[in-house]
Amino acid sequence: MKILVTGSTGQLGSAVLHQLKDRKCSVIMTSRRKPLCGGDFDWIYSDMLSGQGLEEASKDVDVVIHTATSPMKKTKEIEVAGLSNFLSKLTHIKHFIYPSIVGIEDIPFKYYKYKYEAEELLKQSPIPYTIVRATQFHSFVDSLFLSKTLLKGYFIPGNIKFQTVDVGEFANHLINLTDKGPQGKTAEFAGPKIMTLREMADLKIGINNKPSRIYNFSLPGGLYKALLDGKNTNPMQNVGTVTFEDYLRKKVTER
Ligand SMILES: NC(=O)c1ccc[n+]([C@@H]2O[C@H](COP(=O)([O-])OP(=O)(O)OC[C@H]3O[C@@H](n4cnc5c(N)ncnc54)[C@H](OP(=O)(O)O)[C@@H]3O)[C@@H](O)[C@H]2O)c1
Repeated sequence: MKILVTGSTGQLGSAVLHQLKDRKCSVIMTSRRKPLCGGDFDWIYSDMLSGQGLEEASKDVDVVIHTATSPMKKTKEIEVAGLSNFLSKLTHIKHFIYPSIVGIEDIPFKYYKYKYEAEELLKQSPIPYTIVRATQFHSFVDSLFLSKTLLKGYFIPGNIKFQTVDVGEFANHLINLTDKGPQGKTAEFAGPKIMTLREMADLKIGINNKPSRIYNFSLPGGLYKALLDGKNTNPMQNVGTVTFEDYLRKKVTER
């Protein structure tokens, strides 16, 4: 089986590649920057915006794990139009695996709107697919909200909720799907525990042993409300086993 991993320099893409090193399969990776984590795998430059390199990257490929994404720049062009163009080059593919995000139809955020459109596009394409939604990664929430202190404190919307998941566990789940074959839209992959951002910050302060204040603020608007209501969580699908605490402790030991 030949697997193409797009987004090979990203959080999820590098976790997938790291684990594919132990598998007996042929792997090709693609992104605009050359990944450092790719070992002996071949890499091909490609751009989801222009389409450059996609045909070459997908030659003789059986399965695509599509982790390339652009939440901040040219999002619609890359998530939807770029995907449509990519799919048009993949008529020979046996399985297209698309990681998506829990709650995207209930959370008013542009990136999520385009992720939803991408899911719909894939459902209507003739290509056999699996769509698997996950909750936010531990590392994503940590770097977005808890990586910098200001005035020795965290300024955070502390009441919003997350059910973060380990990116390595999700990567492993995607790789296991390559053996299972196309599943259509499949069960969501959520982390072990729902926590408020404030609880996550408290945990980080305790584990790092660096006393910091937490300045909690609220925000107006639907996005904040949706995250307060936990629309980005799925307590029924708490299949991840690595907790946010495990993630933080591992980070400390790796320093
Ligand atoms: N982050 C989360 O918490 C989370 C949770 C659930 C699901 N997901 C989903 O998981 C997937 C991967 O997310 P991630 O957090 O790993 O993303 P990421 O770290 O931001 O990585 C994005 C990847 O896309 C590539 N990329 C960006 N623009 C590109 C372009 N124009 N052409 C080709 N490649 C491009 C980037 O590489 P170059 O810049 O080198 O091209 C990078 O390798 C996404 O579908 C996301 O929605 C993420």
